[in-house]
Amino acid sequence: MPENRGKFITFEGIDGAGKSTHIATVADLLRARGLVVVATREPGGTPLGEKLRELLLHEAMHLETETLLMFAARREHLARVIEPALARGVWVVCDRFSDATYAYQGGGRGLDKAKFASLEQWVHGHLQPDLTFLFDLPPEAAGQRIVRQGREMDKFEREHADFHARVRQAYLERAASAPRRIHVVNAGQRLEEIKKIVEEIVVTYCL
Ligand code: TYD
Repeated sequence: MPENRGKFITFEGIDGAGKSTHIATVADLLRARGLVVVATREPGGTPLGEKLRELLLHEAMHLETETLLMFAARREHLARVIEPALARGVWVVCDRFSDATYAYQGGGRGLDKAKFASLEQWVHGHLQPDLTFLFDLPPEAAGQRIVRQGREMDKFEREHADFHARVRQAYLERAASAPRRIHVVNAGQRLEEIKKIVEEIVVTYCL
């Protein structure tokens, strides 16, 4: 790896765990250190990926179709945005990545783990995020946050609490299997407290 390669930081959690605020915090922190940062998201992040996002978030489809489209959008995102940025020394902060597929399609919907693993290997076998935040919150609390926001819910947000409980469980299992990369943050704490913890983790592990 060239020395001046950028770093790749991802943000995960069940719907309503409140990752958006913290993505902005991390991007600001990095920019304040003089780093060039691209903030992006999945599914999405490219013109094609955003079209796939529309379908993924609003159309009912077979579980394997959903999984393949998530990885198709990801392949495009890696090729057009993430890999070129990292190679130029730009840092990439991304709202969700493959851990979300593991948790939602795997944990939530029951996709065979071997199928997930082979797609992950195919699409980005050589690359994992340098650092991942998992914002953890019980589904009941996360659901209340979404209801309070009062906006229209997408396909995943409309799933029942037991779906989100399985997603959460899968995220925690994934975190336990990659403890150096995935940092679990209790998202039930005060915003200021979470911000402090997130900043400390970035400074300790990335800068
Ligand atoms: P999200 O990132 O939460 O966006 P917003 O904050 O605008 O609602 O929405 C993306 C949804 O897509 C989320 O419910 C999780 C789901 N998702 C998967 O099911 N699998 C994946 O691989 C990814 C990246 C997302």
